[in-house]
Amino acid sequence: MQWIIKYLTSSIGKKQIMGCTGAFLALFIFGHMCGNFQLLNFDQAAAQASYNAYTEFLTGFNPLHFPIKMIYLVELVLVAAFALHIFLAIKLKMENKKARGGVDYEVNARKGKKTFATFTMIWSGLFILAFLVQHLVMLKFGEHYLYMNAEGEIVRDMWLTTITMFANPAWSAFYVISMFVIGMHLFHAISSAFQTMGIAHQKWTPIIDMAGILYSVVVALGFAVTAVAAFYFGNQPETQALIEKSRALQPQYEQQQKEKAAHKAAFVIPSVGEVQVSFNTEI
Ligand code: HEM
Repeated sequence: MQWIIKYLTSSIGKKQIMGCTGAFLALFIFGHMCGNFQLLNFDQAAAQASYNAYTEFLTGFNPLHFPIKMIYLVELVLVAAFALHIFLAIKLKMENKKARGGVDYEVNARKGKKTFATFTMIWSGLFILAFLVQHLVMLKFGEHYLYMNAEGEIVRDMWLTTITMFANPAWSAFYVISMFVIGMHLFHAISSAFQTMGIAHQKWTPIIDMAGILYSVVVALGFAVTAVAAFYFGNQPETQALIEKSRALQPQYEQQQKEKAAHKAAFVIPSVGEVQVSFNTEI
């Protein structure tokens, strides 16, 4: 037990945990980028159908029939990884500064010189945190549009929520700039994580650095292209027509929710059979 505490409080322990949580987040980002590529479709109706089916699948995925949806567990792991990553970054930054007698600079251990990416790691990291707050407020908890899926069920239209946010040029521009910052953060993080793990090799290190650059450029460009495309699609006349179609589903959606609530209130007692419970919601 003692060794765990010693490891967790050591500088190398903190750096390695930062590297592991960072690697997990970098993998999540890649998967997220691939999922968002479904927005790159000139056929608006097909994009709407596939993007909504994709978000419905993610939110409803529960093959083992857990009492709690899988998405909540994934979100819990994501929040924990983000929180640990940020907490350790700030702690290490403060410890570094203290060790240098309050002088705020960092040196690239491998090259022996300070780089722009190294110097700005903490700031690009805090920027990404602010970006994520905006991202979740505007999308996850943002405007609620409606969509009738292939089964005739009315669900949330995540495609319209996303497209209408990007239709605003200010948000699209903000996303393109943010992707540059995220790319820079990833680029430095990858080479630095390998360094922390003690992988410094004459032959492999330049290859790892190149792979890190490639990964960061692909992720930053992938998201930036998606943001620009979403801006274009969000400003097409078809989008306005789809918003009106979505609004027209409101009465049907309310009816569906009432039926679902009534269905939930019906339960089965083995010796009695199905019991219907009804209650008057009008006061
Ligand atoms: C073009 C760029 C992007 C688009 C279109 C996009 C789209 C979305 C959408 C629609 C959601 C809500 C999903 C739902 O609730 O069903 C979401 C959630 C999320 N996004 Fe993005 N995203 C983009 C870039 C990013 C980037 C760069 C990051 C990371 C730095 C990121 C991290 C997240 C996280 C952590 C969530 C919450 C996941 C969850 O709760 O399950 N996104 N994104």
